[in-house]
Amino acid sequence: MSMNHNELIASLIHIDGVSAEEIRALLVPPKDLSFADLALPCFRFAKALRKSPVEIANALAQEISADLPPFLLSCTALNGYLNFKFARDDMAKETLLKVCEQGDDYGKSDLGAGKTICIDYSSVNIAKPFHIGHLSSTVIGGALSRVFKALGYRVIGINHLGDWGTQFGKMIVAYKKWGDPAEVETGGVKALHKLYVKFHQEAEKDESLNDLGRAYFKKIEDGDPEALNLFSRFKEISLAEANRVYDRLGITFESYNGESFYNDKMQPVLDLLAAKGLLVDSEGAKVVEVGEDMPPCLLVRSDGATLYATRDLAAAYYRKNTYDFEKCLYVVAYQQNLHFRQVFKVIELLGEPWAKDLEHVAFGMVSLADGTMSSRQGKVVYLEDVLNSAVTKAREIIETKSPDLEDKDAVAEQVGVGAVIFGALQNNRIKDITFSYDKVLNFDGETCPYVQYTHARATSILEKAGAFDPQKADFASLENAHELISAIASFGDAIKAAADKREPSIVTRLAIDTAELFNKYYIDNRILNADEGTKEARLLLTAAVKQTLKNALALLGITAPNKM
Ligand code: ARG
Repeated sequence: MSMNHNELIASLIHIDGVSAEEIRALLVPPKDLSFADLALPCFRFAKALRKSPVEIANALAQEISADLPPFLLSCTALNGYLNFKFARDDMAKETLLKVCEQGDDYGKSDLGAGKTICIDYSSVNIAKPFHIGHLSSTVIGGALSRVFKALGYRVIGINHLGDWGTQFGKMIVAYKKWGDPAEVETGGVKALHKLYVKFHQEAEKDESLNDLGRAYFKKIEDGDPEALNLFSRFKEISLAEANRVYDRLGITFESYNGESFYNDKMQPVLDLLAAKGLLVDSEGAKVVEVGEDMPPCLLVRSDGATLYATRDLAAAYYRKNTYDFEKCLYVVAYQQNLHFRQVFKVIELLGEPWAKDLEHVAFGMVSLADGTMSSRQGKVVYLEDVLNSAVTKAREIIETKSPDLEDKDAVAEQVGVGAVIFGALQNNRIKDITFSYDKVLNFDGETCPYVQYTHARATSILEKAGAFDPQKADFASLENAHELISAIASFGDAIKAAADKREPSIVTRLAIDTAELFNKYYIDNRILNADEGTKEARLLLTAAVKQTLKNALALLGITAPNKM
């Protein structure tokens, strides 16, 4: 494979003690594209060379300019930065041919080959509604899984199911007292949740129900067949429902080991803590002191019960031993900041060098702009209902915009679900978001339908053009598409940055920028009836836009319809 511009530049610069790989990693896009296509800050070399960054940049610029390689238009220095301008037709040719040659693989690399990343995400709670609160974890985790896979990592996506706790004893009590098997069969989690709500109402009046709930939970723990049976049934019902949602979101997991999986895996960790003198008694409970700035981490209650944190400790060891991860990411809301700081600290105190590889990938809250959509059962908003509403609304828009479209239902599914996913991934993940159907389904905004629509437009242009000969392309005619070509060329870097920062919004941003630049280009430049050479170049550009948008959306779990 030929070297790309970044690699070529890295190979031009020789500094003792700095590898070409390091130089590549330092290259940044310039703030202003009219100024340069790529920049290298020279601050990092100041120490090694015992010179100021300004002196270093000036010297390098002079050296490289004296013997300018053909792919560069210029190399200049400014304020300690080296600025490179590429020969534009050369860059256009390299980029567009590469996209078309690599197709669905464009953007992928093998940077992560041989490395394993565990991603704990979605991690829904059994017998509880799969509600909008789990949207972000699910789609951020799904996107990160695909992003890391695209970089060649082995990814272990883990759905750390919330399938343990006294609530399951309560569920059994409610089911036995008021449950109707047929209703639960058809009503699924909604019916189960209704029973759970009923249990709490009744327990307000009759305190003894809580004791009964605890007794039934004990039965599950002790392996009582009837209790275990019901517990497994609840779990099946919940998972069947969750899987329906996962299918629509294009999500699969490598593991469904949830909290109950660690029942027999906590004691060794507790023993280890005790042996190291880290487990201390506190009013009958067992805790680990995790420093001045945090409350102690509670691991065993005075009645002997283990906790969420105990299970996470066992899970971390299990994952390290089973998968030998480079990193283990936990895609969980920022409300659990303290929990993860405590758990990670305990592992650090245990002296495990891999404690530093555990990372909480936190995100903000999702709330709804229109409060009217809360479901009948109360304030819970089911994710499946949100997807359904988005699809229904997308269907209406399509009906008015493209009444003659075939497969309207299939397209509405892709547009509606895509809009929800994209909307949840669009901002910096730590930001709280207010979800609105109108906003995410606006065909003219910075939205998924806008990107999908641009993809369909590119498809239609290519279809109208029919077969063409890329050999005839005159790349010099793409001078005014430089910004668009730069966006396409930076796709691989965007994937890498999204992985490094655990930030899928970098991919959504690239998709929007590419779509906007293409639409602008399309208004100003005829494609189908341009002169020979120019036409082929513009068609090649159109094909590259289509492919880049398709690949970017695919990373997010979104399909791009060819017509809409
Ligand atoms: N089930 C938990 C919740 O819904 C999230 C679990 C996150 N993962 C973990 N290993 N703690 O809040």
